[in-house]
Amino acid sequence: MNQHNLEIFNRSLQRVTSSPAFFDCFYDNFINQSDEISRFFKNRDMAQLKKKLRETLFMLAETAEGRPGLTLYIEMLGRIHKRLNVQRKHFNMWEEALLEAVKIYDDEYDDEVLAAWLYVIDEVIETMFSALEEARLKAS
Ligand code: HEM
Repeated sequence: MNQHNLEIFNRSLQRVTSSPAFFDCFYDNFINQSDEISRFFKNRDMAQLKKKLRETLFMLAETAEGRPGLTLYIEMLGRIHKRLNVQRKHFNMWEEALLEAVKIYDDEYDDEVLAAWLYVIDEVIETMFSALEEARLKAS
C-alpha cells in the first residue's frame, strides 16, 4: 500500500476512533440504508462486531504493503462474507456509510483524507473479492 495514503489513513483513524460513537454512527448509517442491509445484522452481536471492525482497521493502518499475514486475514474475511451472501453492491454501500461517519468524526476531514480511506478500503475490498474469484476458478 502507498505509504503516504497509509499515514494519512492512520492519523484519521486515530482521530475518529477517539470517539467511541464512531462505530455506532457507521453501523447506524449502514443498517438504515435499506431493509436488505438491516436483515444481514439481525440477531448479531453488534458490540463484538464493532470491536472486530475496529481491530481490522487498526491492522490495516499498522501493516505495511504486502504482509502475507494481513492478506491471508483479509482473504478469510472475504470467505466469511461470501458465506453470508454479501455482494459487491453491498460493499459499495458499506464504504459509503463508513465514509459518512469519517466525515462526521474527523475534524481534519478533507479531500486528501477521503482519498486515503478510499485507497485503503478499495484495496481491502479487491483482496476480499480476488480470494473469492480464485476459489470459484478452482471449483470449476
Ligand atoms: C471492506 C468491507 C468490510 C469489512 C472490512 C468487514 C469486516 C468484518 C469483520 C472484521 C467481521 C467479523 C468477522 C469475524 O467473525 O471474525 C465482519 C462480520 C460481518 N460482516 Fe462485515 N465487513 C465488511 C463488509 C460487510 C458488508 C458489505 C456486509 C453486509 C452487507 C457485512 C456484514 C457482516 C456481518 C453480517 C457479519 C457478522 C458475521 C457473524 O456474526 O458471524 N460486512 N465483517
